[in-house]
Amino acid sequence: MRSSFVPASCRNALSANAAPSLLRASILLLAMVASAATSPKLAGQTLQLSVDASQPGPKINRNIFGQFAEHLGHGIYEGVWVGPDSNIPNTRGIRSDVVSALKGIKVPNVRWPGGCFADEYHWRKGIGPQRFTTLNPNWGGVIEPNSFGTHEFMDFLDQIGAEAYVSINVGSGTPQEAAEWLEYLTTAQPTTLAKERGANGHPAPYQVAYLGIGNESWDCGGNMSPDYYLSQLKMYSRFVRNFNPAQQEKQQMLKIAVGPGGAEPRWTAWTETIMKASQNHTWSWDINGLSMHSYTVGHWPPSFASTGFGETEYAQILKYTLEMEDLVTKYSAIMDQYDPQKKVALVVDEWGAWYTPLPGTNPGFLVQQNSLRDAVLAALNLNIFARHAERVRMANIAQMINVLQAMILTDNAKMVLTPTYYIYKMYLPFQDATFVPVKFDAGTYTHGEIRLPRVDAVAAKDTAGKLWLAITNVDPNQPAEIEVTLAGVTPKSAAGETLTAPKVDSINTFDSPNTVVPKPVTAKVDGGKVSVNLTPKSVTVISIEQ
Ligand code: AHR
Repeated sequence: MRSSFVPASCRNALSANAAPSLLRASILLLAMVASAATSPKLAGQTLQLSVDASQPGPKINRNIFGQFAEHLGHGIYEGVWVGPDSNIPNTRGIRSDVVSALKGIKVPNVRWPGGCFADEYHWRKGIGPQRFTTLNPNWGGVIEPNSFGTHEFMDFLDQIGAEAYVSINVGSGTPQEAAEWLEYLTTAQPTTLAKERGANGHPAPYQVAYLGIGNESWDCGGNMSPDYYLSQLKMYSRFVRNFNPAQQEKQQMLKIAVGPGGAEPRWTAWTETIMKASQNHTWSWDINGLSMHSYTVGHWPPSFASTGFGETEYAQILKYTLEMEDLVTKYSAIMDQYDPQKKVALVVDEWGAWYTPLPGTNPGFLVQQNSLRDAVLAALNLNIFARHAERVRMANIAQMINVLQAMILTDNAKMVLTPTYYIYKMYLPFQDATFVPVKFDAGTYTHGEIRLPRVDAVAAKDTAGKLWLAITNVDPNQPAEIEVTLAGVTPKSAAGETLTAPKVDSINTFDSPNTVVPKPVTAKVDGGKVSVNLTPKSVTVISIEQ
C-alpha cells in the first residue's frame, strides 16, 4: 500500500558538494546563472507523480491530527484557561480566541493532563469549589492551582468539539484512584461519585474515548521495567472501567499502553513484552493501542534554536525528523508479529520538534518559536502517519499551545497562529479520508553531507469522494515542477493552497501574524494530467475535481 519515497541518485549541480571549494563555487555560479536565465522548469526539472485512485487504501484516521495539552508552562494556564473573571474574552474561563482557532482545525482528540505531569496528577484536587494548590515539580516547580481540572477539561473539549484522551496516573497513583476518576466521569447510575459530579455541575455522564495507562513509565512515569509495567497495565486495564451506557459497544473506550520512546534496544524489548502479553491476554484485560514517543531533537539535551537559523539547521532537523519513518516501520513490524490483524493501534502520542527554550523564558516551560521549518516538518510526519494508516491510527503533536511545536502562541490577550497550525488546516480534507497510493521519484535535495528526499507527497479521497494531493517541496532553493498522472480519475480542474515564506526560519509574530500563511495556488489540467509548480520550501495541498 505504501507509496514510493525513494531518493533518486543526486542529479543536479549541487551534488558536487564534495568537490574542492573553487570548483564548487564555479558550479554553483553556473547553476545560479542557469536558474536566473531560464524558467523554473529547467532549474528544477519536472517530477512525475502517478496517483492511482482506483486502488484505495486504508482510512487515514482523523485521530492522527490529535493534540496534546499538558499542565506545563503556559500550555493550559493562559493558553486555554484564563478564568471566568479574566478581561480576556472567555466562556466559563476558557479563552474564546483559542477555542475559535482550534475549531478551525477540527481537533479530533486532546491528550491530557500529561505527559510526566499525568503521573503526579491527583484528580480530586481539581474538582469542586475548593481547589488544592499543589506544585508542578516536573515543569519549573511552579504552583499548580488546579483551577483547570476534570470539568474544565471536558467543557473545553465540548467547546472545541474534540474527544477526551485522558492519561491516568500509574506512577504515583493507584488503580483505585484511577477507577474512581473514571466512575466519577462516566457512570450514569446514582452513585456517590455521580452525585458529586452532578453537584459540581454535570449530572450527565461524560464520554471518555481514550484512556492512556501511564506515560513514559520507563522514565518519568516511574522508571519501570517492562515486566513491572506489564503487571501494572493488567491491573489498570482490568479495574479502570468506563461505565457510560453510550460507550459499551462500538463506542467503547480504547485503552492505550505505554510503548517505546526511541530506537534503542531497550524499547524493542519493551514493545515485545507488551505485544506478546497482549497477544495472549485473558478476558480480564486488554489494550487497543500502544503508544510511541519520538521528538525531533537531534540529541538530548535539545540544542537547536527555534529562530535565527539557516539552511544547515533546516536540513539537519528535517533529516532527524524523517527518522520517524524508521521508527514507525520498526515498531509496526514488531507489532505485526504478535498482532497481524492490526487490532492494536500504534499511537504516536508525543511527537514534534523540541528546540532550546527561547531566551528569557523559564526553561521548564519549554517555550519555542514555530517557523516555516516546523510546517515542513509537520507535513513530512503527517505523511508518514498517513502511509502507515493501517497501524498508525492516532498521533498527538506536542503540544497544542505555547509549549514545544505549538499550533498557537499566546501572550496575555494576544494570540498568533503558527505555521504548524496552517498545516493542520490545509490537511483537514485528509481527516478520515481514504489513502490513495502515489508513486514518484522523490529526487534529492543535498546540503553539505545531508541528502534528503526533495519532494514528498500523499493523496487521499475525502469522505465526499474528492481527490486531494499534498506535496512538500523540501528543497529551500529550487522550485519543483510536478506533473501528476491519474488513474481512476479524469481531472477537470485543480486548485489549492500553498504554504511558504521568504526564509526557512520565517515565523508569525503577534505584530506580523501573516508572514507564513497559506496562499492560493493554481494547477493546470491538460490532457488528463495535472501540473503544479511548487515554490522552494513549501507545502501545497490541491483538490482535483473530476
Ligand atoms: O512533552 C513534554 C514531555 O516530554 C512530556 O511530559 C513527557 O511525556 C515527554 O518526555
